[in-house]
Amino acid sequence: MRATPIVPVALVVGALLGWGSGTGLARRADPPAAEAPPGKALFAQYCAACHGAEGRGDGPSAASLPIKPWNLTEARVLGHLPDEFIRLTITKGGQAVGLSPLMPAWEAYLGQEQVADLVAYIRSLAVPRQEPSEVFLGPIDPPGAPVQPILFSHLIHAGAFQINCQYCHADARRSQYAGLPSVERCMGCHKIVAAAGNPEVQKLQGYWQRREPIPWVRIYKVPEFVYFQHRGHIRAGLACQTCHGQIQQLMRIPAIEGPNRLNDLLNLVGLTPAPPPLSMGWCVECHRATNRAHGIDQPSVSAGTAAPLDCVTCHH
Ligand code: HEC
Ligand code: HEC
Ligand code: HEC
Ligand code: HEC
Ligand code: HEC
Ligand code: HEC
Repeated sequence: MRATPIVPVALVVGALLGWGSGTGLARRADPPAAEAPPGKALFAQYCAACHGAEGRGDGPSAASLPIKPWNLTEARVLGHLPDEFIRLTITKGGQAVGLSPLMPAWEAYLGQEQVADLVAYIRSLAVPRQEPSEVFLGPIDPPGAPVQPILFSHLIHAGAFQINCQYCHADARRSQYAGLPSVERCMGCHKIVAAAGNPEVQKLQGYWQRREPIPWVRIYKVPEFVYFQHRGHIRAGLACQTCHGQIQQLMRIPAIEGPNRLNDLLNLVGLTPAPPPLSMGWCVECHRATNRAHGIDQPSVSAGTAAPLDCVTCHH
């Protein structure tokens, strides 16, 4: 098998994350004999020069690119990319999604239908093919996200490249805070990965050279008078996504609204409308449901087996 441009990145990331070599790189099966999809001709015409005839990132122009396109036949990577990300990358170009600006923006040259054909074609390259139900359809860049000092995409790190949440948010299981990764942790990969040719990664390297922490804007926050700990919740087996949503499918994390008085009052009198995340009703509703599921009527905090409903446990 010929070496493909994804190999260096996959090997570096794989080595750092301890991926077993046994999982290997997916090999593409021969294309089906059926009629060629419309996206195939478009891809050959506009994209293959860089992306390679088969989408392996090995087109004749790729040799001179500082960051090669990914191997789109790799289900492990492509399988976690929402259609919306592929569409946005094609129409707005690499820079709009935090990738290399040498991936051009095509919206002035291709119509919506052509772009849709290309998305479908790219989606069909990955072997093994994914189930349609695994393809995320929601917005990847919902409104309300603060401007961060670096366009850091969870979709690329935790989605496409499957880096574990707790690899970066390592304090979640042992402390009150989940914590953010240090610049050192980022550089563990980025001394090599996309080291040249990506303006967003160059910003990261600037912080590293100046020995400055990255001033990330805080998003999720409960008021000071509320006591919340990650540790207990993670140890109780809750997935991050239960409370934070499908973060691995987001390019930017939107700021969400917490306090909602009406909702809180309804919850306190025992009604349970769907509460917005981080409001008191949201905490209380899950605690009630948890205790019901465990058959606990009177939660006892000292026993440590129940989710507390008494005021002082959350407000001291
Ligand atoms: C001039 C070279 C060039 C051309 C032409 C080009 N691309 Fe790209 N494309 C790139 C580069 C470089 C990247 C990688 C950016 C990165 O990883 O930072 C990329 C990335 C992408 C990605 C994101 C996944 C990946 O491989 O990194 C998609 C999807 C994509 N291109 C689709 C297309 C489509 C569809 C076309 C044709 C309409 C096209 N590209 C034409 C250079 C090109
Ligand atoms: C490669 C490192 C990395 C990985 C992997 C990662 N994150 Fe993050 N996370 C960050 C950085 C950096 C920020 C701050 C920038 C931002 O908000 O996008 C952040 C921010 C967040 C925030 C918002 C923090 C706040 O200010 O309220 C949440 C929630 C979060 N991550 C959850 C997750 C979850 C869930 C996963 C796994 C699906 C995950 N992260 C994977 C690095 C990472
Ligand atoms: C385990 C390895 C790893 C770690 C740790 C890591 N990255 Fe990345 N990062 C990658 C890979 C792989 C890519 C995709 C490179 C490409 O092909 O363009 C990437 C892409 C990026 C990009 C361009 C795409 C985007 O997200 O906008 C930025 C910016 C970036 N990383 C910043 C960071 C920051 C900041 C941290 C620390 C909070 C970090 N990375 C930690 C592996 C890593
Ligand atoms: C039970 C719900 C819940 C779960 C599960 C949860 N979080 Fe949180 N998370 C919150 C709340 C509430 C806040 C705001 C806390 C505050 O203001 O102190 C928060 C804040 C954060 C923050 C920003 C502040 C900090 O603690 O560093 C990050 C990052 C974060 N969460 C990541 C994660 C990750 C990663 C996981 C999974 C390992 C996770 N969270 C699991 C509810 C949750
Ligand atoms: C998705 C469900 C869920 C949500 C949402 C949730 N919790 Fe919990 N909470 C739990 C579970 C489960 C436990 C652990 C019970 C046990 O120890 O077995 C727990 C335990 C606790 C405890 C006692 C253990 C500790 O960590 O000190 C406190 C305090 C607490 N939660 C506060 C909050 C607050 C404040 C919020 C809202 C900001 C919240 N919880 C949201 C499920 C949830
Ligand atoms: C499971 C955790 C939890 C429990 C139990 C809980 N609260 Fe809260 N409470 C919160 C959170 C989180 C907030 C902040 C978000 C909000 O205002 O909705 C809050 C907010 C409040 C506020 C609003 C303060 C303001 O800014 O206006 C009041 C008042 C309050 N709680 C009283 C109570 C009382 C009284 C009880 C007992 C009947 C109680 N809480 C039980 C988590 C809890």
